[in-house]
Amino acid sequence: MASVTMRGVRKDYGPLNILRDIDLDVADQEFITLVGPSGCGKSTLLRMIAGLETISGGDISIGSDRVNDMPPMHRDVAMVFQSYALYPHMTVAGNISFGLRLRRVVAEKIAVAVASAAAVLNLGQLLERRPGQLSGGQRQRVAMGRAMVRNPRLFLFDEPLSNLDAKLRVQMRAEIKALHRRLGSTSIYVTHDQVEAMTMADRIIVMNQGCIEQQGTPETLYDRPASLFVAGFIGSPSMNLIPGTLQNGRLVLADGATLPFPASAAQEGQAVTLGIRPEHIRPQPGGLAADVVDVEPTGVDTLILCRFSGVQVIASVRDRFRALPGTPIALAFDEDKLHAFDTATGKTLRQ
Ligand SMILES: Nc1ncnc2c1ncn2[C@@H]1O[C@H](COP(=O)(O)OP(=O)(O)OP(=O)(O)O)[C@@H](O)[C@H]1O
Ligand SMILES: [Mg+2]
Repeated sequence: MASVTMRGVRKDYGPLNILRDIDLDVADQEFITLVGPSGCGKSTLLRMIAGLETISGGDISIGSDRVNDMPPMHRDVAMVFQSYALYPHMTVAGNISFGLRLRRVVAEKIAVAVASAAAVLNLGQLLERRPGQLSGGQRQRVAMGRAMVRNPRLFLFDEPLSNLDAKLRVQMRAEIKALHRRLGSTSIYVTHDQVEAMTMADRIIVMNQGCIEQQGTPETLYDRPASLFVAGFIGSPSMNLIPGTLQNGRLVLADGATLPFPASAAQEGQAVTLGIRPEHIRPQPGGLAADVVDVEPTGVDTLILCRFSGVQVIASVRDRFRALPGTPIALAFDEDKLHAFDTATGKTLRQ
């Protein structure tokens, strides 16, 4: 069993409070992705679970063990770091096999484990090199190999794919998922990559300024963001957020124009923010009058930046679309895909 439980966990560096009252439950064999802006405390959280950082308050348990004071090597956790942390004087093979040699695994088993990790990670030609002779992406794959050859009860990944090119990243994503299923170990995976966060996770944890802002399945976070922060953070391009005032059930913009607003707990006259994802806005004759600001083809989709009533929104459409900046365009919003937030608190107004 390798569930992870955190209760009231905090981290202070002197007067600086970095993590506040973290309560987190990760189920045995669950794959969790942890996302949030730079500096919000993701690496610190992982390092505390690994035992590389002391905790300033609260309790951390792995399985049935309270690990607050347990040394890292007794926690049976493998961590892949943001900065690869390879041993510079050891070869690639030596780095990958280090943990196994430390545990006195027999040489034949080590050789098999290293060869199979090297095959998966495409490192077969590099086994005798030292880290200084590798590219950033190659080093990252060695760090991954070192975690893979072990069979820990918990994997902690800190942006392990950030230095890989797009194609390799997709391959490695699939490898990590397959590894997770094969070993049945619990995984906590920090990433800045929206697609990684959404596609790999059973559950996503969104952090903001040392707190957990929201947690849920990828679908929940996409469909029902609890706050403006999560609404803007999950999804790419970001959800359009349009502030205004609620009057007669509609959103009134600064220039008096109005937009539909979903049924919500908002009061008449309240400052509210309408949220709509780019994929839920489309050009439609007879719709809301706007001007094209720019058109950005991304290959599969086309992003249309538009402006109306001093508001700029992005629409994302599947079809090819061409228009010069300044061209008039009419937009339709999918009315069953609207989100409603209280501008003052940032919280959802969804009933
Ligand atoms: N030793 C330290 N002393 C003081 N502050 C620290 C120390 N280590 C980290 N911090 C601060 O703690 C905060 C959280 O850092 P952390 O590395 O956990 O962020 P992160 O979410 O992983 O960010 P990134 O996405 O950039 O990797 C940051 O504001 C950082 O400056
Ligand atoms: Mg970090």
